[in-house]
Amino acid sequence: MKKLSLIALLVVAVMLAACGGGEPEPTATPAPAAAAPVQEVAAGPVGDAANGGKIFATACVACHGPEGKGVTGLGKDLTTSEWVGEQTDAQLVEFIKVGRDATHPLNTTGVAMPPKGGNPAMSEQEIADIVAFVRSIHQ
Ligand code: HEC
Repeated sequence: MKKLSLIALLVVAVMLAACGGGEPEPTATPAPAAAAPVQEVAAGPVGDAANGGKIFATACVACHGPEGKGVTGLGKDLTTSEWVGEQTDAQLVEFIKVGRDATHPLNTTGVAMPPKGGNPAMSEQEIADIVAFVRSIHQ
C-alpha cells in the first residue's frame, strides 16, 4: 500500500513537471522591428533651398545665371536639364563636388564645370542646400 502511494506521488510529480515546463514562455516572440534603415543616416545632410539659393547667387550665378537658366557659352540651363532630373540628390551632390571636365564624355558644351563651381571650401551642407535649390527651380 505504501509503495502504491509512492508511485501515485511520483506520477503526480511527473505530471506537474510536465505542465510547468511544457508551454514555451511567451518570450519567444519575434524581435521588435529593426532600427531605422542605415540608408537614412547615409543620405547626408538635408538641403535648405533658401540658403542654397543664396550660395547659388555667388558660386554658380556667373555661369548658370541668376535663375539657373544658363549663360550662353558658359553654364547650361539647369531648370530644363533632363540630366538633372534623372539624378538623385546624392548623385547631384557628388557631381557638384567633382564638376565635369571639358573632355568628359557627358560634356556637351566643350566648357568645363569646375568642382564646387570653383569654391574648394564649400561644405557638404552647402552643397546639399544648393541641390535643394536646384530642385526647386527645376521644371
Ligand atoms: C565657370 C563656370 C561654371 C560655374 C561657376 C558653375 N558651373 Fe555648372 N556647369 C558649367 C558648364 C560649362 C556646364 C556644362 C558642362 C557640359 O557641357 O556638360 C555645367 C553643368 C552643370 C550641371 C549639369 C547640367 C547638365 O544638364 O548636364 C549642373 C547640375 C551644374 N553645372 C551645377 C552647378 C552648380 C550648382 C554650380 C555652383 C556651385 C555651378 N554649376 C557652377 C559651368 C559652371
